[in-house]
Amino acid sequence: MAMYDNANTVTTSFDLQYVSEYLIQAQWAEMIELKKVISTLAEKKKAPISIFDIGIGNARVPKHLSGIKDIWELIEKYDGTDNAQACIDLSNKLIADMGIGDKVNVYLFDAAKLYEWERKYDLILCTWFTPGNFYPDDFSFETYNPKEKRLQLDDNPKFQTVFSNAYRLLQPGGEIVLGACYIDHDSTRLKQEESYRKMNMTVITDELDSFTATKEGFWSQRFTTEKLLRYLSFAGEENIIITPLDTYGYAMQVRVKAR
Ligand SMILES: C[S@@+](CC[C@H](N)C(=O)[O-])C[C@H]1O[C@@H](n2cnc3c(N)ncnc32)[C@H](O)[C@@H]1O
Repeated sequence: MAMYDNANTVTTSFDLQYVSEYLIQAQWAEMIELKKVISTLAEKKKAPISIFDIGIGNARVPKHLSGIKDIWELIEKYDGTDNAQACIDLSNKLIADMGIGDKVNVYLFDAAKLYEWERKYDLILCTWFTPGNFYPDDFSFETYNPKEKRLQLDDNPKFQTVFSNAYRLLQPGGEIVLGACYIDHDSTRLKQEESYRKMNMTVITDELDSFTATKEGFWSQRFTTEKLLRYLSFAGEENIIITPLDTYGYAMQVRVKAR
């Protein structure tokens, strides 16, 4: 079952009453940066742009973008994928309620299979910490015990597969935006753990892990700049721009420009 297919966790993780202040702050900070990227790309193209949203969740991003007329006019089409049917259902409901089905379409699809995707886009998004959700297929939420065998993430083949395949889907001049990624600080880890506990989950990772996971099947990686540059080396360091989203070392946005 996909991480967000559990009826309980899908509700609590999108419900702002359970979501920490830091997570809410990151949503708005990444949205401000994202609007700048959309304007820049549309200006460069001299036409509205196409967007592909990996891990669209409850369609939060198109919901907010569609409310800003000047920005929405710069978007020609918006496709989203998610591997959780519960999220596809939430997105489809929102799209119908907001009447934005002329531009927005969602597909049940695992990002690990992006090598099968054929359409190309000006902008590929992966927002609100979704880039940290790509965990190894053999990770066991039932038995993980870091004291016995710690998962080292010097490489993360799943992350690298998802984004190298996404990179292949960029139109010339396009870019990938990793909306918000956790910065690997101990203070971030403590904030993540607190927010999972607030959602009544049991944390199974410790202070030496570079990701936080819960027994209930949530998995979220923190990144250093060095690690991100290594994972994204297929794009070339000169094409990667990293912007902090706050003053307390919690989240950063990563732009990866087409070669
Ligand atoms: C933290 S939520 C973010 C949702 C949305 N991007 C936002 O900004 O509000 C992560 C989303 O990514 C989806 N996801 C996780 N792994 C995925 C995968 N392998 N393929 C597609 N979607 C995935 C989850 O189901 C969930 O909807």
